[in-house]
Amino acid sequence: MPEKSVHLLLVEDVDTLREATAEHLEEHGYQVTQASSGEAALERLAGFAFDIVVTDLRLPGIDGTELIERAVQQYPGLIGIVVTGYGTIKDAVEAIRRGARDFITKPFQFAHLRHVLESAVEQRRLQSENAYLRSQLEDRYRFEGIVGRSEPMRRLFGLLETVAASSSTVLITGETGTGKELVAKAIHHNSPRRRERFVALNCGAIPESLLEAELFGHVRGAFTGAVGNRQGRLEQAHKGTFFLDEVGTMSAGLQAKLLRVLQEREFERVGDGRPVRVDVRVIAATNSDLAAMVRDGVFRDDLYYRLNVLPIHLPPLRERREDIPPLVHAFLQKLGRDLEPPRPDAAFSQEALRRMMAFDWPGNIRQLENVVERTLALTPGRTQLNVADLPQEIVGGADRHLAAAVLPDDGLDLQRRLQEVERAIIRQALEQSGGNKHQAARMLNVKRTTLVEKVKRLRLDAPPPNGPS
Ligand SMILES: Nc1ncnc2c1ncn2[C@@H]1O[C@H](COP(=O)(O)OP(=O)(O)OP(=O)(O)O)[C@@H](O)[C@H]1O
Ligand SMILES: [Mg+2]
Repeated sequence: MPEKSVHLLLVEDVDTLREATAEHLEEHGYQVTQASSGEAALERLAGFAFDIVVTDLRLPGIDGTELIERAVQQYPGLIGIVVTGYGTIKDAVEAIRRGARDFITKPFQFAHLRHVLESAVEQRRLQSENAYLRSQLEDRYRFEGIVGRSEPMRRLFGLLETVAASSSTVLITGETGTGKELVAKAIHHNSPRRRERFVALNCGAIPESLLEAELFGHVRGAFTGAVGNRQGRLEQAHKGTFFLDEVGTMSAGLQAKLLRVLQEREFERVGDGRPVRVDVRVIAATNSDLAAMVRDGVFRDDLYYRLNVLPIHLPPLRERREDIPPLVHAFLQKLGRDLEPPRPDAAFSQEALRRMMAFDWPGNIRQLENVVERTLALTPGRTQLNVADLPQEIVGGADRHLAAAVLPDDGLDLQRRLQEVERAIIRQALEQSGGNKHQAARMLNVKRTTLVEKVKRLRLDAPPPNGPS
């Protein structure tokens, strides 16, 4: 007996055989629809999502093999079983080659037919389960639009899965623009609360005087301007996720009230003495060093421990530069699609990418995204984007080295300028190699003897004027 009602289309032109088979299968829990020709079968298939089609091979008009081939191609997941007369195995093999899952030969025992059907259904169940597991696995590396292939990001993807499944409080730390809010949303959308609300409150963006009412809500007349009752963000997040951004900016008074929420899931609306209970999953984020603030006595240690149950740290972009090319690619795709006309194939030259990888990105991923957007906006219609298209702030670092190559209005002494540049660069090489001439020569791509000679000529080995003699 099939576990769940299986819908089966039975195609057979001999009425008595078809009716007897249908009756038998119905007695065993199948939902059977009958068709007496291939054409009729195709019509039925178009109107309903059958699980299985069982067809005789010899049919007037479209034969069974062709029927199976068309049906399986058009309705993936549909199981095709063929019934062959006279033991013509060759035809059965052909039908299987064209998409049938199995075959039985006439005359057959009903029990044998049922056995074939049951094992085909079971096989398909396992297959779709495998496909499901595979897609789950792929999703681990595509967590809700979070791009990254660096080691820290791979570790993050693994961690996010565990964190999303749990209901514990999360503390996300990281510099500005590292993706804290993006990660908070990804956790919510992969958690059992995904169907409920994700409500955010940025403590740093709201004046202290209004923050409490915003968080907990207020009743009418609680303070000047409180004209009606108002729900706070915490209540709005009931059953869902509450994202408390920039938690490091909270005053001592609010810290105490937040602690109570975390401990008892309970608070009071401003101007009201009655406790309100909520079921929320709290995710907090900060770009300040909360541990240091605890040491300095400006952040409650008990609150810190309550928040820091599941810590997630997002490293700055300059510590995971290999994420820059895939991020740039993702932003080009996303932003290029929205342009008018769309430019999905715009790409940076290798040199431009190298320059971006060399930059330190104090504004992290947000800054990178802005740069890609700005560059796209300034290069209408182009597919290749070059170093010259990047904003000065990104390539400026490299241009500083070329400052020495600027000809002042009043001219210069070329020999002296070249010597200055040479001297400055050799000094840096010696500094960076800790005075090791062999290593310094390698950095400058000159022979060691050449370097020694230059050092002597430029008097770079003389002790510094104020150094120890
Ligand atoms: N790994 C990533 N993959 C793709 N986009 C990212 C990634 N990280 C961040 N972003 C994008 O960068 C921008 C900044 O991210 P987000 O707002 O989450 O940063 P934040 O850490 O909350 O910053 P702030 O501390 O300034 O609030 C967003 O547009 C976000 O979608
Ligand atoms: Mg943020």
